[in-house]
Amino acid sequence: DKGNHRHFMEKEIYEQPEVISHALSHYVDFASNRVSPNASAIDFSAISGLAISACGTAYLAGLIGKYWFERYARLPVEIDVASEFRYREMPLSPTQAALFISQSGETADTLASLRYCKDSGLKIGAVVNVRESTIARESDAVFPIMAGPEIGVASTKAFTCQLAVLASLAIGAGRARGTVSAEQEKTLVRHLAEMPRIMSRVLNLIQPQMESLAREISKFTDVLYLGRGTSYPLAMEGALKLKEISYIHAEGYAAGELKHGPIALIDENMPVIVIAPHDRFFDKTISNMQEVAARGGRIIFITDEAGAAASTLPTMATITLPNVDEIISPMIFSLPIQLLAYHTAVFMGTDVDQPRNLAKSVTVE
Ligand code: M6R
Repeated sequence: DKGNHRHFMEKEIYEQPEVISHALSHYVDFASNRVSPNASAIDFSAISGLAISACGTAYLAGLIGKYWFERYARLPVEIDVASEFRYREMPLSPTQAALFISQSGETADTLASLRYCKDSGLKIGAVVNVRESTIARESDAVFPIMAGPEIGVASTKAFTCQLAVLASLAIGAGRARGTVSAEQEKTLVRHLAEMPRIMSRVLNLIQPQMESLAREISKFTDVLYLGRGTSYPLAMEGALKLKEISYIHAEGYAAGELKHGPIALIDENMPVIVIAPHDRFFDKTISNMQEVAARGGRIIFITDEAGAAASTLPTMATITLPNVDEIISPMIFSLPIQLLAYHTAVFMGTDVDQPRNLAKSVTVE
C-alpha cells in the first residue's frame, strides 16, 4: 500500500525518520546514551580487521561504514563489491571478522563472499533487512536494519538504516577497543538520537526545491557528483540512484580525483552536484568547485548553513541543510540525493518503482 504517495519509492523516502528511529532503538540505549549490547554480537575488541562485502547501494553503505570503523574504532577495513571480493583470492585470517550488507539477504555474489569467508574461518556478521534470508541464516551474528519491507527497486530507507546500524556498530566497536571514550560515546549517541527529528524537518524543508531542481536536471544527459570523506560514497550513491531510475548517465567521483580525468568533461551541459557539508574536507572540496566554476560548469551545491555562508561561488542551485554532526551527515545528506533522483524520474515519466532491466533482488551472478 502506497498510502497517499504516488510511488513506493516516495513512501519509503518519507518513512525514513520513523524506521531509523526504530532501528536506532535496537542498537542504542537513549536513556544512558550508550550503544546497546545488540551492537556487540561480534567481539570487535578481539579482531585484527574487518572485511566488508556487498553490492550496489549496500556496498556504498559499507564504504561509509569503513570510514567510521577506521576513524572511531581504529579497525582496518577491507571492502570490495561482492562480485570481486569472492574471486580475488585475498589472504584472509581467522583473526578478522567479516560483515555482509544486504537488504534482501539473498544477493548471489554477497552470499558467495560470505561462504568464502566462512570457509576461511572468519566470524560472520550480516547487516540485513530480511531476517529470514539466506545470508542471515548463514551468519554467526545478525544485525537487522529494521527498515520494514522495501518495495521500490531503488534502495532508500534500507540505505539510511544500514548507515544507522553501521554507525552504531562502529561506535560500539570503538568502545570495545578503547578508542572511543565513554564521554565521546554519549555525545555520538546523542547525535544519532537527534537524527529522526532532523530528517523529518529536512524532508519538509527541501521538497519544493528538489522538485523544481529535478525539472532542470531532467533536461541533461550527464551529471557528475563529487564529494570527499563520507560524501564520496554518497556521491556514488547519488549517481547510482539517478541513473537507475531516470536513466540519465551519472558518475560519482572523489572530488580530489577531478583533476585526474573527469575535469575534461566539464562544460555547461554537465551539471556537477557537489556534496559538501562544512566538515574538515570543506575547503578542499570548495577549491574543486572553483575549478568547475572556472570552466563554465553548472554547480548544484548541497551543503549546510555553515557551508552556504562560507562559499560565494555562483551556483545553479544551493541546497542548504541544517548544520549537523559528522556522524549523522551521511544520512541527512542522503535525503536531497534521493529526492532529486525521485523527482527527476517522475518528470522523465519512467517506471520509478520498477526501472527497466532491474530486479529488486539479484539472486544470480
Ligand atoms: O538486496 P541487496 O541489498 O543485497 O541488493 C544489493 C543491490 O542489488 C541493490 O542495492 C541495488 O544496487 C539497488 N537497486 C540500488 O538502489
